[in-house]
Amino acid sequence: MGLTATATWLSLGEGSTPLVPASRLSEALGFELHLKCEGLNPTGSFKDRGMAVAVERAVSRGARAVVCASTGNTAASAATYAARAGLRAIVLTPAGATADAKRAQAHAAGAQVIEIRGTFDDALRLCQQLVGEDGFALVNSLNPDRIDGQKTVVGEIVEQLGEAPDVIALPYGGGGNVTAVAAGCTEAGIDPALVVGQAAERPTTFASAIRIGDPAHRAEVDELVAAGRLTIVTLTEDELREMWQRLSREEGVFCEPASAAGVAALAKLGAQGVAAAIVTGHGLKDSGAVDVSAAQLVEPTLEAVLEALR
Ligand code: F0G
Repeated sequence: MGLTATATWLSLGEGSTPLVPASRLSEALGFELHLKCEGLNPTGSFKDRGMAVAVERAVSRGARAVVCASTGNTAASAATYAARAGLRAIVLTPAGATADAKRAQAHAAGAQVIEIRGTFDDALRLCQQLVGEDGFALVNSLNPDRIDGQKTVVGEIVEQLGEAPDVIALPYGGGGNVTAVAAGCTEAGIDPALVVGQAAERPTTFASAIRIGDPAHRAEVDELVAAGRLTIVTLTEDELREMWQRLSREEGVFCEPASAAGVAALAKLGAQGVAAAIVTGHGLKDSGAVDVSAAQLVEPTLEAVLEALR
């Protein structure tokens, strides 16, 4: 399956997300930055590109259920596409460590949500053991069908820009997405510099989507680094938080905290020419990360409102 890999009957319209120029950040950072807004996928994250393909192929192979470990977005996406396919979905999440809206999506779609008293890494290990069961298909990005679907983002970026970017940046959690993007670049015959941002505090970062101690795709990621194709930038919590806020306040792109890691990495490393940053998930996915304590409570009079505005 090539760059235009899309699911057919299972599709909810994943992909074809906006690529928006980030003029204020471009000016401030000194290179031309475009934001690939993957939060506008059907369940609010880039996972849908790969999940539509993975679930459709699981059905065609006769799977009875799809299984995944997740910090939230994979679970929401797997549950949604499984519902559409009429398959059972079983999702394992680290207890107390995922955003409410993502678990709500999984429950709403009728998935069986199992919260593990442990980490994402524990959940993934258990899933790998579970798929020994008959008819259970793993739909984490260790499944190559996920990678096939996710690499379609590269072709879209090139088409929307009208040229290959000099740099593509994205977050690094488990490394599935950068593995997919690198494969997409190879297939498209382009060789942009790849840059990923990872949290210095991997297991505990406030960016809950990338709370992953031990990346499942570390070997592939290390190979890309050794080949000179990829630079890994390690980000402090403050660096992540600052760029996450700037994306909303300076560009109007409200994403979840993890999704800012690609842009934060570019800001820290610097870049030249045209950069495309993949903004992986919607801000509404993790509204709890936003500090709303500055809200002012006033009486319903013009006087009170004007007083509050002073
Ligand atoms: N951004 C978001 C919003 C994510 O949900 C994830 C991963 C990543 C970035 C990192 O991508 O793992 O391919 O390097 N979320 C997974 C999940 C772990 O379970 O939803 P990666």
